[in-house]
Amino acid sequence: MTGFGELAAARRTHKAFGPDPVPRETVLELLALARLAPTHHMTQPWRFRVLGPETLARLKEAAGPSEAEKLDRAPTLVLASAALTGDLVQDEEDVCATAAAIMLVLLGATERGVASYWRTPAVLRTARGREAVGIRAMPDSRGGYGERSSGRHYDVEER
Ligand SMILES: Cc1cc2nc3c(=O)[nH]c(=O)nc-3n(C[C@H](O)[C@H](O)[C@H](O)COP(=O)(O)O)c2cc1C
Repeated sequence: MTGFGELAAARRTHKAFGPDPVPRETVLELLALARLAPTHHMTQPWRFRVLGPETLARLKEAAGPSEAEKLDRAPTLVLASAALTGDLVQDEEDVCATAAAIMLVLLGATERGVASYWRTPAVLRTARGREAVGIRAMPDSRGGYGERSSGRHYDVEER
């Protein structure tokens, strides 16, 4: 790939993957790219969790058999969420900033020859699913995918 246009065109949704997990150093490189996304008021709302086997097992249990199968498609799963505050304007901007950060991860993966796929598993719209991965509900429980903000931090968790 020579230019940015070519890179953007090369990023496509994949649903079949090889068996080997993405090496840890590559994951860290990709998450470092995410931090370069624009963020209004520097809230840096994105949160990324690399799902380890125990968390994945809890999530699959919460998801039920048919969705659990989809969670087994890729050998490495990175969960992206946004730390929201309950302020609608700020939250809208923070969801956009998180999407920008995710896109950087996807483009970085493409650049490195790593196949990727962005999806929102239905289980993460449930309280049980969010609990399985350690996402705290929004203060007003308005059913979002956001986390209660606990200050600015950059997480890479493996459990
Ligand atoms: C916010 C978001 C959520 C998505 N959720 C799903 C999903 O739940 N299931 C799925 O198969 N694809 C999902 N996709 C992938 C899109 O369907 C995919 O990007 C689209 O078909 C275009 O294909 P491309 O990524 O190859 O350009 C999602 C994409 C985005 C941006």
